[in-house]
Amino acid sequence: MTQYEGRLRLGVNIDHVATVRNARGGDYPDPIRAAKLAEDAGADGITAHLREDRRHITDRDIDGLMEALSVPLNFEMAATEEMQRIALRHKPHAVCIVPEKREERTTEGGLEVANDENRLAHFIAPLRDAGCRVSIFIAADRRQIDAAHRIGAQVIELHTGGYCDSYAEGDMDAHRAELEKMREMSTYAHSLGLEVHAGHGLTYDTVKPVAAFPEVMELNIGHFLIGEAIFRGLAPAITEMRRLMEDARA
Ligand code: PXP
Repeated sequence: MTQYEGRLRLGVNIDHVATVRNARGGDYPDPIRAAKLAEDAGADGITAHLREDRRHITDRDIDGLMEALSVPLNFEMAATEEMQRIALRHKPHAVCIVPEKREERTTEGGLEVANDENRLAHFIAPLRDAGCRVSIFIAADRRQIDAAHRIGAQVIELHTGGYCDSYAEGDMDAHRAELEKMREMSTYAHSLGLEVHAGHGLTYDTVKPVAAFPEVMELNIGHFLIGEAIFRGLAPAITEMRRLMEDARA
C-alpha cells in the first residue's frame, strides 16, 4: 500500500476537556473518559498537549491516557528536557514538537526549526531511538520543511491556523493563498518522504479543502470538536467531522 492509499486519520485533541475540568479544580469532566468516547466514535488517535504550565492536560492525564487508550497517543510537547524525560518514560506512539510561549492563548505559530537545527536534531534523536514517531509542527514553509527533514523527523504537521483565521475574518484572498501554500508544501514534504499531517483551528467549514490533499495522512482537531460537543454531544460531533473528511477524500 502506498502512503496515498491509507484512510485519512482523525486525531482528536482532548486538551479542552481538561480546560473545563480545571476551571473548577476537580476531576470532572474527565479527559480520559472523553478520549475513550472519542475512540468509540471513530477517532484514529488521541492528541494531548502537556504544556509546561499544565494549564489543561496534567501529568496524571498522560499516565491515564497511556493506560486507557487502545488507539495511539500523539503527545504534543515543547522541546524541553523535562518534556523529553516524560516522553521517554511513556514512549507514546508519536510525539509532536510544538513551540510554546507561556503568555500565548494557544500554539500561535509553527516551530522555528531552521534556526535551531542542531539542538533539535539532538533533541529528537533519543525519542526516535525509543520508537516514537517524531512529528514537527511547522508553518507551510519550504525552509522549515527542509530543516525538519534534515533533523530526521518522520512527520511534519502543517499549522492550519492562518488558513482558519483568515476564513473566520472573511479575508478570502488570504484564505485561498494560505490553502495554496499548504497544498504546495504538502506535495513538497511528501516528495521528501515526510508523512504530512495538518491541524489547528479546523472546523466543519474549513476541514474539507485540507482533507482533500492526497498527501495529508492525519488531521488533529480539538477545540472545535469539544465546543461542538456542547451542542450535539462528542460522539455525533466526531462522526460529522469524519463524514466531512471522507467526503472530501472521495
Ligand atoms: N495540532 C497541534 C500541533 C496543536 O498544537 C493543536 C492545538 O493544541 C492542534 C493540532 C489542535 O488545534 P485545535 O484545538 O485548534 O483544533
